[in-house]
Amino acid sequence: MYNLLLVVPRGAEMSDPFYQLQWQLLVDNQLAARQVQLWIATLRCRVPDIAGNKWLKLKYHIQQIQQHNKTGILSFGGAFSNHLLALAAAGHYFGFATVGVVRSHQPDLHNPTLQRCRELGMQLLFVSPEQYRQKQQEEFLTELSRQYPDYLLVPEGGSSPLALPGLAELQLQQTPAGPASLMAMACASGGTLAGVATAHPGTSVLGISVVKDKSLPDRVRQLLPAKASNNWQLRHEQSGRPYGKFNQDTLQFCLQLARQQQIYTEPVYSGKALQSLMLWAQQGDFAAGSNIAFFHTGGLQGLSGLHHRALITEAQLQLLKPL
Ligand SMILES: Cc1ncc(COP(=O)(O)O)c(C=O)c1O
Repeated sequence: MYNLLLVVPRGAEMSDPFYQLQWQLLVDNQLAARQVQLWIATLRCRVPDIAGNKWLKLKYHIQQIQQHNKTGILSFGGAFSNHLLALAAAGHYFGFATVGVVRSHQPDLHNPTLQRCRELGMQLLFVSPEQYRQKQQEEFLTELSRQYPDYLLVPEGGSSPLALPGLAELQLQQTPAGPASLMAMACASGGTLAGVATAHPGTSVLGISVVKDKSLPDRVRQLLPAKASNNWQLRHEQSGRPYGKFNQDTLQFCLQLARQQQIYTEPVYSGKALQSLMLWAQQGDFAAGSNIAFFHTGGLQGLSGLHHRALITEAQLQLLKPL
């Protein structure tokens, strides 16, 4: 097993050799007229399958299994889960076993995400949506722990308290134009928002929810430390489409960004959230002089799954997914 993590002590995070942060300014006349700058922060990980927020969320889970000599990590996700793919890639790279509990009516083994997970050595357990809903229940978890006694069980999306220290290392407030006045990102299970908000108590953090989940604010609160600052808020993305679904307007937005500005997003997480953020900025929701940092949380691997389900064309896939 690679023990890279153990030689990167806490406090040496800024020199984490595993990724680089890349900044791109989103150019838009209406934002310029409102004197708002919008910076996109993209994390380039040494292992490309571990994209966006995933390395930061997984980092200290991996450290924990290495320190306790555990066999591997078991986690949960949908059939096109970015999190499961990143976990499978991390297991492959660092040499630990991975198990993915997948919510699926009927397993589709040609699904590109699951295919890649299997290539990377992940064991997949398919459960019905009804069973999957029990994923936080004691009985279900106890049974899984009995079957996989030497595994760390990590919740869906990797959003456990162990995700927070990794996310806290992200230097999201340091945009090329100076300190961010607002930090924003797509939000689903809440870990990314909780981690960034905890690390920057003096800066406003906006989670743009792409899920219709009334419990999300509580889930974020549960992850936050007891005396956390009240610097975060959640706002639902503007298209109103359910999780995983998108309208043509959002797809066109992603295509245009890729074509004109080489900013690569997908319409389920980052594109939906960024489109919402731009609309709010264009309509004047943020004060003149705002310097906004948007964390690109990844998810581009999911584009192959959208193509697989004929939700985007081959040409759109090629345009949205850089080499
Ligand atoms: C691409 C992408 N963006 C954003 C999120 C949302 O992050 P979180 O679940 O931490 O709210 C996820 C899910 O983890 C994701 O896969």
